[in-house]
Amino acid sequence: MKFFLDTADVEEIRKAVGLGVCDGVTTNPTLIMKSGKDQKEAIKEICKIVDGPVSVEGIGETAEEMVKEAGEFSSWAENVVVKIPMTREGMKAVRLLSAKGTKTNVTLVFSASQALIAAKAGATYVSPFVGRLDDVSQDGMELVYSIMDIFCNYDFDTQVIVASIRHPMHVLDAAHSGAHIATVPAAVLDKLWAHPLTDKGIEKFKEHHEKHKKAIK
Ligand code: E4P
Repeated sequence: MKFFLDTADVEEIRKAVGLGVCDGVTTNPTLIMKSGKDQKEAIKEICKIVDGPVSVEGIGETAEEMVKEAGEFSSWAENVVVKIPMTREGMKAVRLLSAKGTKTNVTLVFSASQALIAAKAGATYVSPFVGRLDDVSQDGMELVYSIMDIFCNYDFDTQVIVASIRHPMHVLDAAHSGAHIATVPAAVLDKLWAHPLTDKGIEKFKEHHEKHKKAIK
């Protein structure tokens, strides 16, 4: 299972890369806005730091506009993946881009039928948004299980990125489902490492080591 970082914050990305837990990055216009940087400048910097796919999202509405944006984004770095929204025009764009060998990440996926359509269009990745579904009293992880079932039935090459992750249980459930990737905010990634019993155990062993050293002097 791969971990992507769901952020455009370069420092967060550097930290995760240093810890060996950043297989890629996903961004969107909200995350770029939060970074305070120009999109092109931020993406170019991120693509240099990360040895893996970096998803970039535009605002095009027609297939033509999306393909044009994709051409621009792809010229920034080799590891750019173009995010395409789950619309009819979006799926036209995915077909065109897939034929040209451009990698796509179909975003804003909220149903299994949308994921199926995206896979048939040739999407490299699909991103079901689990947190946003939970927010409206629908079980986001149920959607991931359903997509994984369908993709396994037909052996699609399209990989599933569990997105809109809010807490560590989303990451664990994603792993249980067999989803290929979880894209994780830095704050959630931090929580995956921590356990109070680990800290307590280290303290105890240190204490006993010191005690024993004094005793055998
Ligand atoms: C990633 O591709 C998505 O843009 C992101 O996970 C959305 O997360 P949010 O629902 O917390 O904004």
